[in-house]
Amino acid sequence: MRRKLAAGNWKMNGTLTSVTEVMTLCATHKDPGVDLLICPPATMIRTLGTATTDHAMHIGGQDCHAQASGAHTGDIAARMLADAGATHVILGHSERRADHGETSADVHAKALAAHDANLTAVICIGETLAQREAGETLDVVTAQLHDSTPDSATSDTTVIAYEPVWAIGTGKVPTLEQIGEVHAALRIALTSRFGQDGDAFRILYGGSVKGSNAAEIFAVPDVDGALVGGASLKAEDFSPIITALENA
Ligand code: PGA
Repeated sequence: MRRKLAAGNWKMNGTLTSVTEVMTLCATHKDPGVDLLICPPATMIRTLGTATTDHAMHIGGQDCHAQASGAHTGDIAARMLADAGATHVILGHSERRADHGETSADVHAKALAAHDANLTAVICIGETLAQREAGETLDVVTAQLHDSTPDSATSDTTVIAYEPVWAIGTGKVPTLEQIGEVHAALRIALTSRFGQDGDAFRILYGGSVKGSNAAEIFAVPDVDGALVGGASLKAEDFSPIITALENA
């Protein structure tokens, strides 16, 4: 049985005043039936980690550098995230791939760095609208999965997040059939590469998940949770998604 994971990606949102949102989540889900993860801006990792010490809530980064240290102004090493209290790091989000030209090879190198620092890598993959319309979705996501995930990855150190680029922040969601088709293809790719452990990797869906559509998405086979952007910023929006996952 794969333990489900509800993950929030705050992106470039959140300041000290947002700590109360996480405290509300912890109070509402005292003994959560799923894994919980919030990935705030790096500036807030230490504060949130300390504020949630007594709770099962995990805190993660949104990116890391592939090197352990060095002359890389503005970048953060995986070990620094771990040092600040992070247990996870999101890698290869489509906004990183688009805004910073990150390739799957870059994501692969970052995943190795994350694993070296004992961080669980949440590796994001997903097709653009043009790729979907050209019928390339399964080829694109399986190639991204293959190229971004190191051979040394295990279901303990790595989570996969399928996030169609066109569904992120747009309110557009693929049909349940489309989600199921991709997750099934990713599962086959994982088991053919990692054997029995491939069956234990969590595969999250991400892209415009909200309280009103969470339950039906979580009922799709091989959807093991969600990576949530906009609806993870407020406890009142994220909490119903967590509840839907607990009930899935
Ligand atoms: P969204 O973002 O939930 O705001 O669509 C998801 C993500 O980018 O992880």
